Amino acid sequence: MSAAAVPAPDPAPDDVVLEARGVEVEFVTRTGHAARALDGVDLSVRRGEVLAIVGESGSGKTTLARTLMGLERPTRGEVVFGGAPLDYSFRGLKAYRSRVQMVLQDAAGSLNPRQTVYESVAEGIRLHRRDRSDEQGRSEAELVAAALAESGLRPPERLFLRYPHELSGGQKQRVLIAGALALRPEVLLADEPVSSLDASIRGEILALLLRFRQELGMGVAVVTHDLGLAWNIADRIAVMYLGRVVECGTTEEVLTAPRHPYTQALLSVVPEIEQLEPVVLTGEVPDPSRIPSGCRFHPRCPKLADGTADRAGVAGDCVGTPLPVLPATGDHRAACHLA
Ligand SMILES: Nc1ncnc2c1ncn2[C@@H]1O[C@H](COP(=O)(O)OP(=O)(O)O)[C@@H](O)[C@H]1O
Ligand SMILES: [Mg+2]
Repeated sequence: MSAAAVPAPDPAPDDVVLEARGVEVEFVTRTGHAARALDGVDLSVRRGEVLAIVGESGSGKTTLARTLMGLERPTRGEVVFGGAPLDYSFRGLKAYRSRVQMVLQDAAGSLNPRQTVYESVAEGIRLHRRDRSDEQGRSEAELVAAALAESGLRPPERLFLRYPHELSGGQKQRVLIAGALALRPEVLLADEPVSSLDASIRGEILALLLRFRQELGMGVAVVTHDLGLAWNIADRIAVMYLGRVVECGTTEEVLTAPRHPYTQALLSVVPEIEQLEPVVLTGEVPDPSRIPSGCRFHPRCPKLADGTADRAGVAGDCVGTPLPVLPATGDHRAACHLA
């Protein structure tokens, strides 16, 4: 950096394209209890970055992705896109969906079995582009072909008339991605995008997401329970536990110097990462209708169980003092009385 006389303007805020601000989502369970799947989440997705949202099953990752997509409405807090709160009217959501797209885990279930590849990809274009062509005057067929090719399906025309049952799992996922990509969204949300795919094609699909962030400047948020995957593609990581982000920071920070005992435990069982002692989490399965007092992780925390928290003089806080919501500033932070 040069020492210019005039300071550069603050770079930060306009980088952020999509935000969750204090988002709570409460469901009423079959037994009539309130289950708070999201319990105050602050999160930001920036242009040109891959953010990984990680955590065990049940931590609220899918609910967060659905809420960011406008499919779930926060009971409290708000989703902010381009600086403005989401407009949940029919027209508002329709406009939003052309700018923020989601790719789901189950590609097979997300494609209409009666629709050809061409129809599947063209559907979004028809819904969202009134003139069905782009700024360069490309026709619908050209846009579909380009999106398929960009998603690694070449030559695209050969797939136009195929049906989902004629495609492999990887091809189906690519068709879904092409459908999202055809709209040139500013943000792509991917919920476990490769967990149902063979290991051999996972890398290719992930490389695709990286290219979108690189070449199109898209913000990509990937939901995954796989920390190895996050390590490979994410710029930043948010670790979730029972409806909260409990640790966030750059991938390097969170995965090489984890501060939260929960992150440490998750990491200790990742095969790609050398660790001396795997930490096996015991204790009750997290239940959002019964969020523990104090630190929500305390009933399962290895540092509380082994006396570390006690020796540090925070054991009482772990059990009784709630932790504040982590702000989405991008700094490395952990919601832990020890950290
Ligand atoms: N529609 C719903 N009704 C009731 N509870 C739900 C609903 N969706 C999710 N939950 C609950 O919210 C919690 C978080 O779920 P989810 O967001 O799917 O987590 P993840 O994707 O991390 O596995 C779970 O306890 C789940 O049972
Ligand atoms: Mg999920």
